[in-house]
Amino acid sequence: MAFPNFSISTYAIAGVVFVLVYLLRRAALPQPIPGIPYHKKSAKSIFGDVPSLLRHQARRPEVFDWMTAQARELNSPVYQLFVKPFGRPKVIVLDHREGHDIMHCRSKEFDRSELFADVFSGAAPNHHIVLPTNAQFRAQRKLLLDTMSPHFLNNVAAKHLYKQALNLLELWRVKSRLSGGHAFAVDADINEMAHDAIWAVAFGSEVNTIRSQLELLATDPAVQEPASIEEAIKLPKATLPAEYEAVMVMSDSIEFSLRSPWPRPAHWLYRQTPTYKRANALKENLVQRHLEDAQRRLLKATSREDMIDCACDHMILRERQAAEREGRAPQYDTPIVRDELIGYLVAGHDTTSTTIMWGTKFLADNPSAQSKLRAALHDAYPEAHANGTLPSMQAIIKTDVPYLDAAMEEISRKANTGPGQYRKTTTDVDVLGYTIPKDTDVFLMANGPGFVEANPFEGHIREEQRSKTSREAKGRIPDWDETDISAFKPERWLKNGVFDPLAGPTSPFGAGVRGCFGRKLAMLEMRIMFTLIFWSFDLPQLSKGLSGYGAVDKLTHKPLQCFARPIDLLGKKEDSTTA
Ligand code: HEM
Repeated sequence: MAFPNFSISTYAIAGVVFVLVYLLRRAALPQPIPGIPYHKKSAKSIFGDVPSLLRHQARRPEVFDWMTAQARELNSPVYQLFVKPFGRPKVIVLDHREGHDIMHCRSKEFDRSELFADVFSGAAPNHHIVLPTNAQFRAQRKLLLDTMSPHFLNNVAAKHLYKQALNLLELWRVKSRLSGGHAFAVDADINEMAHDAIWAVAFGSEVNTIRSQLELLATDPAVQEPASIEEAIKLPKATLPAEYEAVMVMSDSIEFSLRSPWPRPAHWLYRQTPTYKRANALKENLVQRHLEDAQRRLLKATSREDMIDCACDHMILRERQAAEREGRAPQYDTPIVRDELIGYLVAGHDTTSTTIMWGTKFLADNPSAQSKLRAALHDAYPEAHANGTLPSMQAIIKTDVPYLDAAMEEISRKANTGPGQYRKTTTDVDVLGYTIPKDTDVFLMANGPGFVEANPFEGHIREEQRSKTSREAKGRIPDWDETDISAFKPERWLKNGVFDPLAGPTSPFGAGVRGCFGRKLAMLEMRIMFTLIFWSFDLPQLSKGLSGYGAVDKLTHKPLQCFARPIDLLGKKEDSTTA
């Protein structure tokens, strides 16, 4: 057999290809940060830790529990992950004291991670969520900031939230009647109610998603009852309003980019689909319509602050005032204004609905906590209780109900709706004795040790490894008692019957300058929803087959199963409310 006789140029090309492949592979291989623990095997593959994550996700569709589990495997509260070929390692921190300190006291060393910009800038490129913490961010955050003021929350937001909650009560009453004692899925109902609620707060109008369901069920559609009472019944689903679907497509597109190692190109691809294009056109149209409507109503000589009926109105009046103050022409409809409004809808909808879903599960599975909550509500609103009516919106916002505060805090702690916070180092930093280089993404986990499970790393950390501000804050937020840290126990937030928000570590809304913008609105919404739901219904514990605690990590950490069998406690009397 003749030996192949390649020319010199063939050898040269092969050599260049070989060197290129070698260099490319080297560039794609993880470059571990010296001194920070990692899986040695992962550092030898261009896919880093991704195969391990995929194996985990083949068993359960969660991401963040896997991230927490890696700390246990590496036996360290600080470690690094390689989840993006060619990308820099991500550093994960599992220590509530240091996490709190980083968010509150070290904002010069840690800014918002660019992951947010990568994920959100396809759908809302002009929203403040994508900005680093600079003058532009501060100016933009002010645009809707007053919608978190007590005045707006109590006088504007609360009435919209209350009204939309009533629709959900009505829907569950109708569904309960049709269900013949079977449980039914409530995740979509809660999601749609939360959407209707934030929509009404944003635009002052109604998108009527829940009402579409009610209209369909009013036609008495055929329902097939399962053979066993242990099984959930499937109820017919209405075609939902196109504008609701458009906002959902926006959320889905963000979720799509979040799940990709290359979020920006992934979102670009998504934007090319006819579904996205249609949804985007609808979204642009609906925001424009509401901005024009607000201008028509409010830009009159006679318009007053007390005419503000939604976030959109608020933006128009604020812009008019700012323009007058600065001696310039007002700009009512800009890409920034549009994206801030859409961001308000998207960020305010999925998060709140996910937390409420978990809340219904926790309270159904903890009948004694549910009874205590109901008893506390009955004590707080004795007149409504005596009359068999609902507490009014005014009563709910002005009455202190410590057990309700405690239950909401406990639901938020256990729900893990956002299982951690994302930051990026702006300089080389020290965290618990490890040096993390500038421009590294740092994830502050809030879903595991010290928050909802015993902390195996407690003994690993010497006090002198902590930052100065962390040492100074020692004991300000005490550790949870590890014997019941995993239990759902609202009482942990009560000291002598008084609600104590600093009773122990929790971080559902993040903290510091990049903490959740909408926290106060979310808490108000949950206050109204949980009061009305648990006042109106008993949610009994369901069979194991319907009350699992599996979750899926999408934009938020959602329960895989969310069923309920609401038992009406009020009958028809809910039509009248009492002050
Ligand atoms: C239970 C409901 C909610 C939860 C659990 C939640 C959670 C969070 C978390 C964990 C963050 C990141 C914080 C950080 O990195 O420190 C965040 C940011 C944010 N949230 Fe919420 N959120 C909720 C409701 C809302 C609502 C109702 C709105 C608006 C109407 C909203 C708007 C935002 C915005 C705009 C940001 C980005 C802030 C920034 O970039 O500085 N959220 N939220």
